[in-house]
Amino acid sequence: MAVTDAELFDAAEAARARAHAPYSGFSVGAAILADDGRIYAGCNVENAAYPLGNCAEPSAISAMVMGGGHRIMRIYVTGPGQTPVTPCGGCRQRIREFGTPETVIVSHGVEGRPLEATLEQLLPHSFGPEFLPPREI
Ligand code: THU
Repeated sequence: MAVTDAELFDAAEAARARAHAPYSGFSVGAAILADDGRIYAGCNVENAAYPLGNCAEPSAISAMVMGGGHRIMRIYVTGPGQTPVTPCGGCRQRIREFGTPETVIVSHGVEGRPLEATLEQLLPHSFGPEFLPPREI
């Protein structure tokens, strides 16, 4: 059965409840629908050494990679307030690594309405893995 946005929202919110955000007070959750049909979620994890904090999106990406997923089919990001919590620039590039220009990112400040945008809309003319020559590993 197809995964719904309601399920992705619930997974992102469950992850957001576990956010470690004592410095910003801004808890974020992210839930990825991966190519294996599974949902992988993550939260932001801040650090007393501020620049070392992680956003929710890379936490979800790490969970996906560790769980055996390879591609981001859709990603749902939740945060506080009314304004859609769109991924930061660095996270857009991280999503780019595992998505396509058509990958949909749903950004949702949970007191407002979700905003749907494609990766191409959020990160136009982007650089990605296919720009690099194949390497023997
Ligand atoms: N944050 C995320 O986790 N994802 C986003 O898409 C936007 C921002 C986090 C980083 C930091 O812990 C807090 O939100 C405030 O910027």
